[in-house]
Amino acid sequence: MTNHKDQDKSIETNLNELDETIQILFKHAIDQLDVSYAPYSDFNVGAALLLESGDIVVGCNQENASYPLCMCAERVALYNAGSNFPNQQIKALVITCRNNHKPIEGPVSPCGACRQVIHEFGLKQDYHFPIYLSVVDSDIVYQFKSIKELLPYSFDKTFLQ
Ligand code: THU
Repeated sequence: MTNHKDQDKSIETNLNELDETIQILFKHAIDQLDVSYAPYSDFNVGAALLLESGDIVVGCNQENASYPLCMCAERVALYNAGSNFPNQQIKALVITCRNNHKPIEGPVSPCGACRQVIHEFGLKQDYHFPIYLSVVDSDIVYQFKSIKELLPYSFDKTFLQ
């Protein structure tokens, strides 16, 4: 995750200025911080997805003593949705985090691997959903219209076969 101190201000908003549905999603993502399994990094990440049915699907990071096996929160949530609600369109994704050793000034954003997976889910359902990022230490939220803002020139299936 990256902390963008010099971020473009146009993406910045405040948690309490967001639609109520998105604020509720953040509550679910924040709850995930307490069940995140992160004994190695002590860095908790929570994610929540809103589906077209109104269902909310959550995920948190899952670590392993074999470090490369750690799985990010947003991928846990997306794979959870792909498995349990394969035909439901994803309408929004929120991600939040907590560093248990130091406060973080502003929102952090998804790692490259997660950006690629988010992109695939958008393509699969023919709708690139908005993404909202925060950190528990602050009310500042970064909002992106879609993964395309976070992953330009992406790799996708059009290059294959
Ligand atoms: N992590 C996420 O859950 N999402 C990201 O986008 C980046 C990092 C997790 C993985 C690991 O458990 C911890 O944060 C530290 O890298």
